[in-house]
Amino acid sequence: MTVFLLASLWGCGGPALSRDDLLNPESCAGCHPVHYEQWRGSMHAYAAKDPVFLAMNQRGQRETNGELGDFCVDCHAPIAARMGLTTDGTDLDEVPEHLTGVTCAYCHQVTDVRGDRNNPLDIAEDLILRGPFADAVQTKAHETEYSPLHDRDSRQSSELCGSCHDIETPTGLHLERTYLEWRESVYSSGSLSGLTCGDCHMRGSDGVAADVEGVPLRRIHDHSFAGVDIALTPFPGREAQLAAVQQSLNTTVAASLCVGGPQGTTLINLTLENVSAGHSWPSGAAHDRRAWVELRAFNGADEVWSSGVVEDGEPLLPSDDPNLWAFGDTLYNDSGDQVHMFWEATSLDSSVLPAPDVNAVIGDGSAHVIRDFVLSGLEVDRVEIRVRMRPLGLDVIDDLIASGDLDSSIREAIPTFDLKGPSLIWTAETATIAGDLSCVK
Ligand code: HEC
Ligand code: HEC
Ligand code: HEC
Ligand code: HEC
Ligand code: HEC
Repeated sequence: MTVFLLASLWGCGGPALSRDDLLNPESCAGCHPVHYEQWRGSMHAYAAKDPVFLAMNQRGQRETNGELGDFCVDCHAPIAARMGLTTDGTDLDEVPEHLTGVTCAYCHQVTDVRGDRNNPLDIAEDLILRGPFADAVQTKAHETEYSPLHDRDSRQSSELCGSCHDIETPTGLHLERTYLEWRESVYSSGSLSGLTCGDCHMRGSDGVAADVEGVPLRRIHDHSFAGVDIALTPFPGREAQLAAVQQSLNTTVAASLCVGGPQGTTLINLTLENVSAGHSWPSGAAHDRRAWVELRAFNGADEVWSSGVVEDGEPLLPSDDPNLWAFGDTLYNDSGDQVHMFWEATSLDSSVLPAPDVNAVIGDGSAHVIRDFVLSGLEVDRVEIRVRMRPLGLDVIDDLIASGDLDSSIREAIPTFDLKGPSLIWTAETATIAGDLSCVK
């Protein structure tokens, strides 16, 4: 008994973490190896290392004569910003690495959320780590406390994530709106209400929350937070992130492709639906994403019509393609000119696949987005579609390279994803008749 007690005290104990230790994710790795490994490859860990972030922030500081201040680092390196270790993020290479990015302690020490955008989180400066367990096994390493903000089964947990995932720029533009979109969706207060950010983005599995003796088997939650971005420089877990992004994109959009029309003309009727994102698709940095439909129509072996065909390494340029169906936000300045950088933007146009709204019933078609393409004078016997996405537009990357802020080697690290769900091939033989049209799903 004594031996067992000693062993379990040693296992769950370890030395008490100092405030400095608590701020360093490395000091969690020994007892929480799974959480640490997943987080270490996440975009939360990459947030202040991302070369595109560093380039944009540097350019933004220059172009606004420093007026941006700590606006960007307050979310991308929140601990360093709040400790006053950087005032504008241009000197992040002088800040200890473990104090940058969205870290364990930053999330697990949130005590209150004071707004719905721009990271309005209150962070404790104590030694308590807040989490989902009211009955956490005691450890000498740190104190614990149950918090509904850290419990995906509680609606409040979406406030913690959401208020950092909505951005209002200094010009007053509500640039990123993931949290607002979620609040207006069926997942927040409609028939599927109760699906929080964590329910979809932190998959549960059975395991131990800490790799020490004496802890019970519990539901634990994925900390790799795969979205759309992947690391653009060597980074732990890059391949795993790439696979996770592809997997979740595969089931995000559903399509139905119908073809018909009178003799001598072809009508292509394409329906797309955002079936699993708890907000619009794309969301968040929708102004930097490039998502679009590639459509190709054939007669025999000949390709007779196409839209959205973009070679690898070429930017997507809507002006070259009048039929292009693309998704995302476009930013404008005061004079109505299109701009890439968000400190210049004062308005935006949005063309996204919305999530079903609060009144929707899943499967009722209310979130369908439909477009017709009329191919006059063309007969077609095969149509192929793909929905494609790039986390970052190559036009944005080229803009940052041209201004001297980004190394040109980054360009080739930008992936292009093909979403499996809406990749379809229509031929008269494989389609089923639906009214005047024949369709494949
Ligand atoms: C010496 C081992 C040890 C170290 C080091 C350690 N923890 Fe823990 N931690 C535990 C144990 C044990 C539990 C309780 C697990 C259980 O009850 O299943 C725990 C629980 C937690 C919880 C859940 C609290 C709750 O009430 O829900 C969080 C969050 C947490 N730790 C974060 C961290 C972070 C962040 C670090 C690094 C700064 C860290 N831990 C370092 C052992 C450790
Ligand atoms: C301190 C602010 C902050 C908080 C709190 C926060 N995030 Fe993030 N999150 C970020 C930043 C910044 C990035 C982007 C990093 C990058 O790509 O440079 C990000 C990236 C992500 C991504 C990846 C997006 C992509 O396109 O790859 C997901 C998914 C995500 N967060 C979900 C969550 C969830 C779920 C929570 C709540 C448990 C949460 N975040 C809490 C700031 C935050
Ligand atoms: C973006 C915010 C965020 C970051 C960063 C983060 N966590 Fe968590 N963590 C959460 C949330 C939210 C939960 C609660 C999940 C749930 O509903 O049970 C959680 C749960 C946990 C738990 C409880 C067991 C479980 O899986 O539910 C542990 C332990 C933990 N985190 C440790 C860590 C460690 C260690 C790090 C850094 C290596 C870290 N977390 C980074 C948000 C975060
Ligand atoms: C019903 C499930 C679901 C809910 C709820 C949900 N998401 Fe998502 N989220 C997804 C899916 C699916 C995607 C798209 C696939 C992907 O990006 O890998 C996504 C993508 C994202 C992205 C990347 C978007 C982009 O285009 O850049 C971010 C960031 C994100 N979610 C954050 C959040 C936050 C914050 C919340 C809560 C306010 C939330 N999500 C709620 C399923 C969900
Ligand atoms: C309120 C918090 C917040 C602020 C302020 C903020 N970001 Fe972000 N940033 C995020 C989140 C959250 C994401 C992930 C969004 C997504 O995946 O859709 C992100 C993603 C990014 C990305 C990667 C995706 C992309 O757009 O290419 C870059 C680069 C970036 N931010 C740059 C900046 C710069 C530069 C600034 C300042 C001008 C800034 N951010 C200010 C929260 C913030």
